Amino acid sequence: MPSVNGLADIVAAETELSMVDGQRGRLVYRGYEAPALAKTRRFSEVAHLLWTGRLPDPSELRELETQLTEARTLPPEIVAILDALPPEVDMMSALRTAVSAIRPRQIWPPTIEDATRIAGMMPTIVAYRHAKVTGQTPVPPRLDLSHVANYLYMLNGRAPSEAHTRALEAYLILTIDHGLNASTFAGRVAASTQSDLSAALTAALAAMKGPLHGGAPSLVMDMLDEIGSRENAAPFLRAKLERGERLMGFGHRVYKTRDPRAEALRDIVIELTQADPWFDLAAHTETIALRLLEEYKPGRELYTNVEYWAAAILRTVEIPKPIYTATFSISRVVGWSAHVLEQAANNRLIRPQSTYVGPLPA
Ligand code: ACO
Repeated sequence: MPSVNGLADIVAAETELSMVDGQRGRLVYRGYEAPALAKTRRFSEVAHLLWTGRLPDPSELRELETQLTEARTLPPEIVAILDALPPEVDMMSALRTAVSAIRPRQIWPPTIEDATRIAGMMPTIVAYRHAKVTGQTPVPPRLDLSHVANYLYMLNGRAPSEAHTRALEAYLILTIDHGLNASTFAGRVAASTQSDLSAALTAALAAMKGPLHGGAPSLVMDMLDEIGSRENAAPFLRAKLERGERLMGFGHRVYKTRDPRAEALRDIVIELTQADPWFDLAAHTETIALRLLEEYKPGRELYTNVEYWAAAILRTVEIPKPIYTATFSISRVVGWSAHVLEQAANNRLIRPQSTYVGPLPA
C-alpha cells in the first residue's frame, strides 16, 4: 500500500510570514524571532507585522487598534445565529458557524480591513457564546481595554491584571502563525479557489478543531487533572504508553527538538506561578514523560510541544477548558488571514494529484 505520509516534507507554498526550523528549534516571523516578539511586543503590533510586513509606527498602531476595537461589538445577525445554535453545539463549531456568516466587505481579493474586522470580532463571539451556554449574562466588550485584556474581561467580568494580560498575549503571539500547518493549509486551499476570506477562515477553523492540531491543550489539562499527584505521574504515563496511547502535549510534525514556543511559554509560566503546586506537577510530569517517550519510542524525537505549556498559561489566566481551542484560534486567525492575503497576491489554484490504488474494471 503506497503511503503519502501526511505530506510530510512536501513544500506546497512559499511564504514570507513565518519560518519554522524544526531541526534547530527556531521560529521567525517576517525577520523577527517569535519568542523575542512575545516578550516585548503587543499582540496588535505582531498582527500588523504579519498583515503588512512591518512593525507599526505609533499612528499605524493606533489606527489598527481602533479598527480592532470597532469590530468588538457584534452585528445583530451574528448574535442571532449564535443564539439559534443549541447549547450542545461545541465552541469550535459555534465559532466556525459565526465566522462563516460574516460577510466580507470585499469578496476578492481579500483585504487587511476584512481580516482586521474578523480578528476583532472573534474574541466577542467566543466570550458571548461561552456566557450563553454556561447560563451567564454575556459581558459586553469594553472599548478602553486592549484586544487581549478585553477578551479576559469579557470572560471573567473583571479587568485582568497586567501580568495575566501579558502572559496570554505571549501565548497568542507565539501561536499567531506557524508555517503550513494543517489549518493554514486548509485556509490557503480554500483561498486558492478565489473563495472569500470568511470561507477560507471557516475551512481553517474546521481543520483547527481536531485533537491532533488545535484540540490538544484541553487534552493536556485532562491528562494532568487525571494524573493529579506527582506520585501518580510515572505509573499513569507508563500505562498510557503500554496501551499504545499518545501523551498529549508531546511530539510535533516539524520540531525534532524542543519547540521554541514551549520553551518561551515555560519561562513565562515559571514567572507567573512559581509557588503554584500545579506548576510543580506539570514540570514533574514533563520530565517523566520525556524519559518514558525515550524508552517507549526511541529515536522518534518526541519533545514537549507548545500545547503542553499553553495549557498551563490558559489555566493560570483562568480561561475555561472548553474554549482553549477557540482561544488559540483567536490568535491564529491573524496568521490564517495573512496567508490568505499572501495566497491571493500571487494566486494559483492548489490542486495536487492522488494515486488511484483501487481495483480496475475487469
Ligand atoms: N505520545 C506517544 N507517542 C507518540 C506521540 C505522543 N505524543 N507522538 C508521536 N508518537 C509516536 C507515534 O506513535 C509513532 O510511533 P511509531 O513509529 O511506533 O508508530 C511515532 O511517534 C511517529 O508519530 P507520527 O504520528 O508519525 O508523527 P506525526 O508527525 O504524524 O504526529 C503529532 C505529530 C500529531 C503532533 C503527534 O506527535 C501527536 O499525536 N501528539 C500528541 C497530540 C498533540 O500534542 N498535538 C498538538 C500538536 S502542536 C499543534 O497542533 C499546535
